[in-house]
Amino acid sequence: MTLRKVGIIGSGRIGGTVGILLAKAGCEVVFSSRHPDNLKDLAKAAGPSACAGTVDEAASFGDVILLSLPLKAVPELDESTKTALQGKIVIDTSNPYPERDGMIAEDARKDPGGMGSVIARLLPGARVVRAFNSVYFEDLRRTTNRMGEKIGIPIAGDDREAVDVTIELVEKAGLDPVVVGGLKDSKRFDVGTAVYATSASAREIREKLRLKPEGKKKAA
Ligand SMILES: NC(=O)c1ccc[n+]([C@@H]2O[C@H](COP(=O)([O-])OP(=O)(O)OC[C@H]3O[C@@H](n4cnc5c(N)ncnc54)[C@H](OP(=O)(O)O)[C@@H]3O)[C@@H](O)[C@H]2O)c1
Repeated sequence: MTLRKVGIIGSGRIGGTVGILLAKAGCEVVFSSRHPDNLKDLAKAAGPSACAGTVDEAASFGDVILLSLPLKAVPELDESTKTALQGKIVIDTSNPYPERDGMIAEDARKDPGGMGSVIARLLPGARVVRAFNSVYFEDLRRTTNRMGEKIGIPIAGDDREAVDVTIELVEKAGLDPVVVGGLKDSKRFDVGTAVYATSASAREIREKLRLKPEGKKKAA
């Protein structure tokens, strides 16, 4: 498998946790936030293939970007960061919570294209994939659910290569990818859906979303 360079923008509970899993699986990881000095312990915990940097450093470094911000922070990213993200695979984890994010989240919850479409509009030119948004960060620390099955990670995207790279990273992280469909199908695992924050296995996700069993490896 290819060695992946992953830039993490937003290295909190979910970005930090996924970043540790990827770094321990051999990816090179740059964690970033507005306060990179606060990320040194996280980078140390992730091991020798990880370090901390600025948001622009992570955006430039990564072949793949894990974008893991409160939704309201996405439009506020610097123009230099948005420019750096153009043409890159951007795996977005964000969820719309009006009490935290305000009106943008209220609008996002009503968007017929789900959060995938919202993020694609906010980051024109980025190869947006939705993944890791529906799993609670503490569940990821185990990577298996109470049945002992790997936790399933629903994925949605329109860019085939970007979806394939996301599948690879989900597997590297010790999780089970489930391709749900194109970017608009991200709505099927947005906040409030039957698979959201359940730590369901891939099998359970396919059942709940009525996906074909063989849908796992096929990009949209
Ligand atoms: N918590 C979960 O279990 C979970 C699971 C799946 C998805 N999600 C979603 O994923 C996103 C992140 O959630 P979280 O719980 O990981 O949040 P969190 O713990 O609050 O972390 C957010 C991170 O974003 C950084 N940040 C905030 N505003 C920023 C900006 N304008 N530019 C750059 N960095 C910024 C913060 O660091 P600084 O303040 O230092 O910049 C922090 O590293 C949210 O949309 C959430 O709904 C969360």
